[in-house]
Amino acid sequence: MSSYRLEDLRQHADTLRTRDGGAVNLRFVEPRDTDELQHYFRSLTTRSRYNRFFGAISELPKGLLSEFLDIGARERFTVVATKLIDGFETIIAEARYAFHAETATLEFGLSVDDRWQRHGIATALMKNLECRAAALGAEHMFGDTLRSNETMVSLARKSGFVFVNHPDDWKLVRFDKEIQVAPQDIPCASWRLADLSRQAERPSASA
Ligand SMILES: CC(C)(COP(=O)(O)OP(=O)(O)OC[C@H]1O[C@@H](n2cnc3c(N)ncnc32)[C@H](O)[C@@H]1OP(=O)(O)O)[C@@H](O)C(=O)NCCC(=O)NCCS
Repeated sequence: MSSYRLEDLRQHADTLRTRDGGAVNLRFVEPRDTDELQHYFRSLTTRSRYNRFFGAISELPKGLLSEFLDIGARERFTVVATKLIDGFETIIAEARYAFHAETATLEFGLSVDDRWQRHGIATALMKNLECRAAALGAEHMFGDTLRSNETMVSLARKSGFVFVNHPDDWKLVRFDKEIQVAPQDIPCASWRLADLSRQAERPSASA
């Protein structure tokens, strides 16, 4: 069961900046996003979906869709990056992350709408995730990608990740980064403050 209330999470939107300075809103996914989220995944190219989920799917299977929407359950979260396009709040990127308290790590995966790739959105999103990771008490953050996904490999390298073999699957490579940022240096201070107060209320949650 989720230990977070949607009303609380709603306060934690951030603004990402694209390479040319444009603003992108980053917020937790909400139940009202169900159709738009499916539309986002259906609209990705086959290749992007394959790279995101390591297999051929045309949309999120029902079970996975409900996991994506169940924010905070088992310390797993989905954020969506949105932009107003023709007056409609449109999802142009998403990321899913899980905090593993036992190893003090944050695991994540992400994608950017093909029409919005190469604008620096994933770079900004990963910076933001680094802040969220620090706020949750993670010491490392990591993700897995297909070895053949040169784009993600290049992006991870540029973002300061190092590569290690995946423990179970030779087709995947794991990219890992030690978290050294002070969360106040990147724009998710509101999240950090909220998390500190949550920890004070629930001291055992990240112990
Ligand atoms: C990987 C992905 C998230 C990158 O998103 P993005 O917003 O385009 O990335 P950025 O604009 O921040 O790019 C940063 C760097 O990534 C690399 N990169 C991005 N697109 C690339 C491409 N098409 N070819 C080669 N390198 C690329 C480059 O090094 C780039 O820096 P540069 O533009 O200065 O050369 C996006 O391509 C995507 O959604 N792919 C499908 C899903 C996926 O592969 N997810 C990763 C596994 S979980």
